[in-house]
Amino acid sequence: MKNQLKSMSRRHFLASTGAIAGTALLNPSNLNAEELSSTAALTKKTKVALIGTGSRGCGMWGRDLVKRYSDQLEFVGLCDINPGRLAFGKEYIGASCPTFTDFEKMMADTKPDLLIVTTVDATHHEFIIRGMELGANVLTEKPMTIDEQKIQAILDAEKRTGKNCRVTFNYRYSPHRAKIWEMLRAGEIGELTSVDFHWYLDTSHGADYFRRWHRLVEKGGSLWVHKASHHFDLLNWWIDSDPETVFGLGSLEFYGKNGPFRAENCRTCNHTKDCNFFWDVTKNDYYRKIYVENEKYDGYLRDGCVFKNDVNIFDKMAASISYKNGVQVSYSLTTYSPYEGYRIAFNGTKGRIDAWIQESKPVSDANYDEIVLFRNFKKREYIHIPHGTSGHGGGDALLQDQIFIPNTPDPLKQCAGARDGALACLVGIAARKSIASGQPVKIADLTSVKPEANKQYTRIV
Ligand SMILES: NC(=O)c1ccc[n+]([C@@H]2O[C@H](COP(=O)([O-])OP(=O)(O)OC[C@H]3O[C@@H](n4cnc5c(N)ncnc54)[C@H](O)[C@@H]3O)[C@@H](O)[C@H]2O)c1
Repeated sequence: MKNQLKSMSRRHFLASTGAIAGTALLNPSNLNAEELSSTAALTKKTKVALIGTGSRGCGMWGRDLVKRYSDQLEFVGLCDINPGRLAFGKEYIGASCPTFTDFEKMMADTKPDLLIVTTVDATHHEFIIRGMELGANVLTEKPMTIDEQKIQAILDAEKRTGKNCRVTFNYRYSPHRAKIWEMLRAGEIGELTSVDFHWYLDTSHGADYFRRWHRLVEKGGSLWVHKASHHFDLLNWWIDSDPETVFGLGSLEFYGKNGPFRAENCRTCNHTKDCNFFWDVTKNDYYRKIYVENEKYDGYLRDGCVFKNDVNIFDKMAASISYKNGVQVSYSLTTYSPYEGYRIAFNGTKGRIDAWIQESKPVSDANYDEIVLFRNFKKREYIHIPHGTSGHGGGDALLQDQIFIPNTPDPLKQCAGARDGALACLVGIAARKSIASGQPVKIADLTSVKPEANKQYTRIV
């Protein structure tokens, strides 16, 4: 299959990366006069601003970057609406930059090259769009946003401003999933025809989504978008094509109003002895400092009750998805499983790939993940992939390296831009709409993104 690589012009490359790649990537003797005159651009660090100093902003996109990439970047501003969490974030991240509770002021005062967006999902679009309008490239956490109108606004802003929006799909970078991509591209099972993909969230991590803002569709787009956009991006990348039609089913029958009792949060609950979901957030020093001590500013309860009546997302979901290249997918997401992980099978004209990951409570001490390759009429083959050492199966650190280490190649096409971010969200948005109408929903009817048989890949350097 022929993949189209969207490349940036050389000038756009220099402008957009500042000097991330400058000295290491470019040989000055190859530069033209205009580029040489801008020698400062070859030595200066990328100016990074971050909005959303919650867990993700403080950790992977804060402290980790200061520790690992201080030669390439410097934080110039941190912003959050919660002044207490912002102060904690500055200390935890270890940045010496100013902090802001006003986003516009941060952008005006600091003029970053790169804006990192790690706020509540429903607010991402505001900062992505304004960030690009104010001259920064953007790196946003998934999901890029939560509905089709906001997707369109982001795509329009990218076009209008000439800036780019990268979406941090860390799941693509886990070695196990990368190996599957390579096997599919190498034609190990012939032509891919269908995928069975079933994801299980457990009663610890899965339940956690029902404690926080994620339990409200207006904040996270429901788990169809907040969580499953990870899975839909993987499918789009593995299948190497765009999703075309989605039929969804879903219900809420375990958490929220279904619980036997409820309270505002665990610390104020009368049922702590009877409730399997009781969790004392104050026992975790980090959570106490970042969340509990800052509740007084915004009322954000990290230990909210999973049985609150206002939960309005599904806890059981299934979808049938057809792709433009003819592949069909059976997908499901269960949120109250005894273990966390997934089962996946790729069916092809010459065989089948099976993989099973158990992320929590592993059944064995093996330090590898397994893929089984079945070739029709031949013996099966077991492939063992060593566990990665960083978060999300080793994917987090590999993603960071690709973004911040100069000249890192992208042979597995793991870099994801706004089109990828849009398509990953659109499958979940289509599933939501399908449940509401009882009808299949066409991706092409939602935004200006028109599904193509051969996936378009984005390269942002
Ligand atoms: N890729 C992954 O595997 C992964 C893992 C965890 C979180 N995430 C994503 O990271 C983002 C943040 O998640 P989190 O777990 O850190 O959440 P969080 O609730 O801990 O942090 C969100 C922060 O955003 C701030 N905020 C909310 N609205 C704001 C606004 N209008 N202006 C400024 N600040 C605002 C909040 O005060 C809070 O500090 C989410 O989009 C989530 O989907 C991704």
